[in-house]
Amino acid sequence: MLTLLLSSSDSDIAYAAKLLQEGETVAFPTETVYGLGACIFDEAAVKKIFAAKGRPSDNPLIAHISAPEQAAEIARDIPTEYDVLSEAFFPGPLTVVLRRKSNVPAIVSGGLDTIAIRMPAHSAALKLIEQAGQPVVAPSANKSGRPSPTCAKHVLDDLNGEIAAVIDGGECDVGIESTVVSLIDLERPPVILRPGSISAEEIAAALQCSVEYSTDKDVAASPGVRYRHYAPNAKVELVFPMQKIPEIGNCSVVLASSPPQEIPSSAEFRFLSAATLYAELRRADKKNVSAIFILLTPDITAQTGLMNRLTKAACIADEPQK
Ligand code: TXA
Ligand code: MG
Repeated sequence: MLTLLLSSSDSDIAYAAKLLQEGETVAFPTETVYGLGACIFDEAAVKKIFAAKGRPSDNPLIAHISAPEQAAEIARDIPTEYDVLSEAFFPGPLTVVLRRKSNVPAIVSGGLDTIAIRMPAHSAALKLIEQAGQPVVAPSANKSGRPSPTCAKHVLDDLNGEIAAVIDGGECDVGIESTVVSLIDLERPPVILRPGSISAEEIAAALQCSVEYSTDKDVAASPGVRYRHYAPNAKVELVFPMQKIPEIGNCSVVLASSPPQEIPSSAEFRFLSAATLYAELRRADKKNVSAIFILLTPDITAQTGLMNRLTKAACIADEPQK
C-alpha cells in the first residue's frame, strides 16, 4: 500500500475522513504527538492499527472526540468530574478514563470495560474527527517501542506503506503524550495513570479534590504504561548539573535546556524540551551516537511528564520489557 502524504487543507482533510469511513487507517497531527486513527465502531479498521504498529492487543486505545458531549456516545455513567475536567482542559492534552458503553468494540479497550477519551487541541484533528462522523481511536503513530512521532516524517519513517495516509500538520507543540487520568473509582481520588504536560496539581485545582499517582494495581488497569517505551539504541544517562559529563565513544550528544559550561570534545550540544525530546532520540538513533547525556537542570526536573519520559528513555523506570 502506498501511504499518501496529505496536507491540512480542507479538501485533503475531507479525503482523509473518507478514507477513515472506508475502513482505512490515517495518521493525523495533534498538539501532543501524531496519532494513527481509525473509526471507533469499525472493528476491522481498529485491528489494522494494532497490526501496523505491532502493538500488543491488551494495550487499550484512546478515543478522540471533537466535542465534549461526544463522550456520551461511547461512555456510560459519566460522573460530573468529567464535565469539570472537559470544561477546564478540552480541547487539550488530557485523556479521561470512563466506563465503556457496550456498543464500543472490546478490542478498542484491550478487553477492559473502560474507555479513554480525549479532545485534541489541533484544528486538523478536530475537523477530521467531525467529518469521520464518530469518535476516532488513535494511539501514537509510531511502531510499538519507538519514540512517538512529532512530525509527519517520523510517521513515514515508521509506517510508510502500512497505513493509507498521513496528514501533515507540521511539528507538534507539546511533544509528549497527554496526561491520562482515571475517573473509574469515585470512592477514591482520581488517579493519574500517565503524567503529561497537564499536571496533577492543575487537575486537583480544577476538581477541588486531591489527585493520586498510579500504584502497581492501577498500572494493571492501564496496560500501556507497563510496556517498554522510548528507549533509543544509545546508552542514555541522566546527569545532574554538578556532575562531570564523561567522554564516551567518539560521538555522543548532550541534551540540555541551555548550553552547559563544559562538554566533552566528542560531544554535541542539542536543545532539550518536551517538544524536542522525541525528535532528538530519533536523530540520535539515526546518527548511531554511542551515548546521550541528559542534563537535569531544575527547569527540567520540575516537569513531571518530561521526567517520566526521560527515566523511561534511560531505562531506570521499573518496567518489564515486552
Ligand atoms: O497524546 C496522546 O495521548 C496521544 C495522541 C495521539 O492523542 N496518544 C497516545 O496513545 O499516546 P497511546 O496509545 O500511545 O497511549 C495510550 C495510553 C496508554 O498508556 C494506555 O494504557 C492508556 O492510554 N489507556 C488507553 N485506554 C485506557 C483505558 N481504558 N484505561 C486505562 N488506560 C488506558
Ligand atoms: Mg504510544
